[in-house]
Amino acid sequence: MSLDRPLILGKGYVSSFFKAKLPQAIHHQEKIRSLQDAQELCSSFQPTHIINCAGITGKPNVDWCESHASETYFGNVILPLFLASVTTKQGIHLTHVGSGCIYEGNNNGQGFSEEDAPNFSGSLYSRSKAVAERVLQDFPVLQVRLRMPLDSVPHPRNLLTKLLNYAEQGNPIVSALNSISYLPDFTHATLALMDRGKTGIYNIVNPGAITHEELLNAYFSQFGLPPSPIRFISPGDLDKLTAARRSNCVLSDDKLAQEIGSRLPNLKENLVQIITEYGAHQRKVQ
Ligand SMILES: NC(=O)c1ccc[n+]([C@@H]2O[C@H](COP(=O)([O-])OP(=O)(O)OC[C@H]3O[C@@H](n4cnc5c(N)ncnc54)[C@H](OP(=O)(O)O)[C@@H]3O)[C@@H](O)[C@H]2O)c1
Repeated sequence: MSLDRPLILGKGYVSSFFKAKLPQAIHHQEKIRSLQDAQELCSSFQPTHIINCAGITGKPNVDWCESHASETYFGNVILPLFLASVTTKQGIHLTHVGSGCIYEGNNNGQGFSEEDAPNFSGSLYSRSKAVAERVLQDFPVLQVRLRMPLDSVPHPRNLLTKLLNYAEQGNPIVSALNSISYLPDFTHATLALMDRGKTGIYNIVNPGAITHEELLNAYFSQFGLPPSPIRFISPGDLDKLTAARRSNCVLSDDKLAQEIGSRLPNLKENLVQIITEYGAHQRKVQ
């Protein structure tokens, strides 16, 4: 792969997957607070590629963003704009991690394509991601839309870990159809697009959208019964319990498949293997 001097931004969950695949990359973990910081970053490291995994996701979750508009818009819109402005001038390839959470529904069964206008604005976080996506379209930037990240290693940001924790705590879980990005596939596809010098927006999701209920049922049928009966609720009922509404949506992977010549592995077909590996990691830490 001809990514000579990649620079990864952000010290969170998604950045760790890129760092694992690109051991030669510089992993910059300091806060970038100004255009000058972004300029200095580029002049001191002279990267050929930047992967922007920095952003505000809200802690413990996106509800936090509702009451922190300035911080959220700065991290999710202004920071990417600074980066795009500097990288465009300096001829550095910029990849920005976007999100599919700007949609709601399955678009009459077709999934939302990269050309479809956002139709979900129920959270400040989602609005910030939609604004950033629109702004970055005016620059030569690769925007990769991630959706509900899943991995075979437990982590508080891994969809399966989140759902198992909700179940353990007796919290209700929403049941709606969603596209999912299996993170090793997401990283692989993003690097393939970077290697081809691509710009523009790409949905990077695995085919085989599933509901949270299906995912948990697959886990419990492999490893035994749930700790307590899980209450599955509709998105409308979940909205009554949270400060920010949550997006549930299906994205089309057609553009990505055309670009890289094949579809990512089907999630439903790989679920048994992912869950088996997940269980092995759980046993290791017990
Ligand atoms: N995880 C998901 O479910 C998901 C889904 C779709 C898209 N995404 C997108 O993927 C990207 C990465 O998400 P993630 O899950 O890895 O989030 P994360 O674990 O919260 O990591 C984001 C990182 O960005 C850092 N950051 C924030 N503002 C910064 C700034 N001004 N300069 C430098 N670093 C800054 C944060 O540092 P602090 O912790 O110090 O604030 C944090 O380390 C985000 O853009 C997110 O919107 C995530």
